[in-house]
Amino acid sequence: MNEKKIFKFFELTKIIIKNVNSLHKLNIIKKRFLGKDSYLHNKINKIKFFKKKNKIIYGKLFNKIFFNVKKNIFARKKYINEKLRKRFLKKKFFDVSIPGRRNLRGSIHPINKSINKIENFFYNIGFNIVSGNEIENEYYNFDALNISKNHPARDFNDTFWIDKNILLRTQTSNMQIHIMKSKQLPIKVVSIGKVYRNDNDITHTPMFHQVEGLIINKKINFSNLKWIIKNFLKYFFKHDFSIRFRSSYFPFTTLSTEVDIKKDDGKWLEVLGCGMVHPNVLRNMKIDYKKYIGCAFGIGIERLTMLRYGISDVRIFFENNLNFLNQFK
Ligand code: DAH
Repeated sequence: MNEKKIFKFFELTKIIIKNVNSLHKLNIIKKRFLGKDSYLHNKINKIKFFKKKNKIIYGKLFNKIFFNVKKNIFARKKYINEKLRKRFLKKKFFDVSIPGRRNLRGSIHPINKSINKIENFFYNIGFNIVSGNEIENEYYNFDALNISKNHPARDFNDTFWIDKNILLRTQTSNMQIHIMKSKQLPIKVVSIGKVYRNDNDITHTPMFHQVEGLIINKKINFSNLKWIIKNFLKYFFKHDFSIRFRSSYFPFTTLSTEVDIKKDDGKWLEVLGCGMVHPNVLRNMKIDYKKYIGCAFGIGIERLTMLRYGISDVRIFFENNLNFLNQFK
């Protein structure tokens, strides 16, 4: 075995590789030096016929040379690539006037905009703001609010029941009970959140938002409630709408009214319910209803937002339509 020959071969490959200037040529050379028909491969194939001692010596040597040729080819490849990249950058015209890529900017959802505005108003006139539970039991959503067992609102058609006793709250009024149970009197609280009803059309979605307000104090009357509602609507819409308090019925209030707003087309639209807390509710909460009086209100946020922006189909709020949402930037 002539070792000199193999070293000479290696020196030769070094010179050849160094002189290659294209990736295509480098590939051809790689095949010639390391491929199956190459000189080196032939040598490696013959090792199996060597004596044991030589097998080890030459095996190591050939492998080392094979590895080094490969390494040199790889280094050359890197060098050529870098040269090509530099040449490309030099040639390419760089237009400094092209605007950069901008990050897409999100926007606040119109419902959240309304929520922020509503919270702002009530916070500024001294209300506490609490968040509420969306998964509720019958007691908080119905029983404690004086809603009778056979009230149609409990119906399977309206309420999403999770099991016999657990449901997705149908109104934020459930928070009245939580607040009365956990807070000391007097109370002046609003709670804003999602409510769920099995309804889906142009004016209803299965999930929507309400604001619940509750005041319990010794001297409080319906005029106070009227003042709050009137001023709230004026603040929210930034101008004086005609509004009317229309006598209505809610199981948890007595003297119950609904409030309608007169739209531009002269039609009235119901936007909220309010009234004086029913003594039965206070009694359920062990509040002395002879000393304390309560008033409460529940406002539909989607309704208000639709009026504010002139939106006619409530479902658009929840369709993730960017053309719609981008208008609220
Ligand atoms: N919970 C009622 C509803 O979902 C709204 C409501 C009416 C809330 C009168 C109140 C209230 O607090 O006093 O339709």
